[in-house]
Amino acid sequence: MCGIVGYVGNRQGLNLALDALRRMEYRGYDSSGIAVAGTDEQGDPVINMVKHAGKLANLEARIAEIGEDQLRGTTAIGHTRWATHGRPTDSNAHPHMSFDGRVSIVHNGIIENFAVLRTEIEQAGVELKSETDSEVAAHLLAFAYNDGPTAGDFRASALAVLDRLEGAFTLLFMHADHPDQIIAARRSTPLIVGVGENEMFLGSDVAAFIEFTKEAVELDQDNVVIISRDGYEVLNFDGSAAEGKPFTIDWDLAAAEKGGYDSFMMKEIFEQPAAVRDTLVGHFSDGRVVLDKFDISNTDLKSINQVFVIACGSAYHSGLLAKYAIEHWVRIPVQIEVASEFRYRDPVLDERTLVLAISQSGETADTLEAVRHAKTQGAKVLAVCNTNGSQIPRESDAVLYTHAGPEIGVASTKAFLAQVAANYIVGLALAQAKGTKYPDEIQEIWETLEEIPGKVQQVLDSQESIKQLSDELGRVDTMLFLGRGVGFPVALEGALKLKELAYIHAEGFPAGELKHGPIALIEEDLPVVVVVPSPRGVKLLHSKIVSNIQEIRARGAKTIVIAEEGDTAVEPYANWLITIPESSTIMQPLLATIPLQFLAVNIARACGNDDIDKPRNLAKSVTVE
Ligand code: F6R
Repeated sequence: MCGIVGYVGNRQGLNLALDALRRMEYRGYDSSGIAVAGTDEQGDPVINMVKHAGKLANLEARIAEIGEDQLRGTTAIGHTRWATHGRPTDSNAHPHMSFDGRVSIVHNGIIENFAVLRTEIEQAGVELKSETDSEVAAHLLAFAYNDGPTAGDFRASALAVLDRLEGAFTLLFMHADHPDQIIAARRSTPLIVGVGENEMFLGSDVAAFIEFTKEAVELDQDNVVIISRDGYEVLNFDGSAAEGKPFTIDWDLAAAEKGGYDSFMMKEIFEQPAAVRDTLVGHFSDGRVVLDKFDISNTDLKSINQVFVIACGSAYHSGLLAKYAIEHWVRIPVQIEVASEFRYRDPVLDERTLVLAISQSGETADTLEAVRHAKTQGAKVLAVCNTNGSQIPRESDAVLYTHAGPEIGVASTKAFLAQVAANYIVGLALAQAKGTKYPDEIQEIWETLEEIPGKVQQVLDSQESIKQLSDELGRVDTMLFLGRGVGFPVALEGALKLKELAYIHAEGFPAGELKHGPIALIEEDLPVVVVVPSPRGVKLLHSKIVSNIQEIRARGAKTIVIAEEGDTAVEPYANWLITIPESSTIMQPLLATIPLQFLAVNIARACGNDDIDKPRNLAKSVTVE
């Protein structure tokens, strides 16, 4: 997730873009940069650019060094980066310039076919300056503009380039010969147009321009927009006319940074469909699971005979789900260990062991030390990580990045869901390498995974009922969470969210274990959340959990039941019933977790804890053991 701004008008583009990037820095802060359409010493049109690795402050320092006069102009594009392809360096920072210095682009998303395009550009004698997937777009535009059927035509050249790109992208193109225009396109990533008087704006979100205008235009997927001082024109990728949807922004500046939500965490909860979708993008092609940047050979992968999962907190809960998936699909034993315990008990590892290290930040000291220990024992380490270039992936043999975008709220939400999706990709890749699933079976599972973002959206759309439930529940001092099978990690995650946000004692148990002790905790009116597996899945498990619900109801507990739509068998035993869309058993956690996130937020607020982004005593990255 990166932040993008574009401006054509009468103000100085540099200052405007800097302000916009400041407000969008939450979207990524690996590097930033701005390009301005200006003139050279002879007064000829050129594009001047400044960019720098690291936080925006580094870019500001660089601008102070070279002087603002070098960057004067009233058409500008800017970018703040959340690194995906290529480390967070100066050369990988956006904007990217074409070989002839006439085109500048900024990009958010992933150009999936960049490797093929890169080779083609290199064969044409152009040396690429960055390791990114994005730079190809700048060169392709220059080729199309300089020569051939679209020569001299900025619009036709941009459309020709877009026609060649695969993946998800928001792209802004600027050409020195057309200093009063920006051409932009979106496919599966955000782009909003801001409409001012004799000035037009583009932004990844309205925070980019809300200071200047509240009139905005929403674009459809696969729309192109051309902005100039006089207005905007919307096209389809084939060049035919399209229409944007005008709307008036009713947020103020502060709310805009959080996308209109009152906290980053709420915003991140609502970003979960995109977090899962973006994590899946590019990992299934021609009927095969694809693992990019994967340095473990297929032979090594084939020889893996056991998996250890190491992680902390929510990442650990996602790892529990990896165990279910890998054992079920690959038929090899999977052990899971809280990372802080791993190296202190001398686990038995060898070169046929795959260690799956899961970490949002990639900096967690407990997980990092566990990775180091695993490596000394000769195991292969695969990191699942949300932060490009962080320490854990750097020290691992291979990495699968989740594409949840920056998670600012300290309690993990979207990163957790993205981790579960990534763990399932690993499971399917192992099943493919070891031949434990037929290609059509893998394809079928992949298709169910691809349906998840849409179903996550359905759960998000029905969150009002959870608000009502929380109001009715009133003040609670303690809460239990029960699940069986893949519902157990969901129960643990629900309990953790409640502890973190509401500071309420909460515990998650396997529902069957309750009768072996914890049932003594049940008393009149104690709220107990029960995650019920699909009745269409393992029948026995469903009926067992229904019995477990009856056991606790008989002792006075009030039950909050999370169950699949149409599961009428549980209705009589639920004080509150929250339904989620139908899914296969293994996919259910990706849906069942979400109501528990809302529950924790609502109960936290009912308890007067409004700063849900920064729960007490916690830190986003825990870099001490
Ligand atoms: C819980 C939470 C933490 C993290 C844990 C691991 O909401 O955020 O439990 O999951 O500290 O952090 P990473 O994934 O960065 O290694």
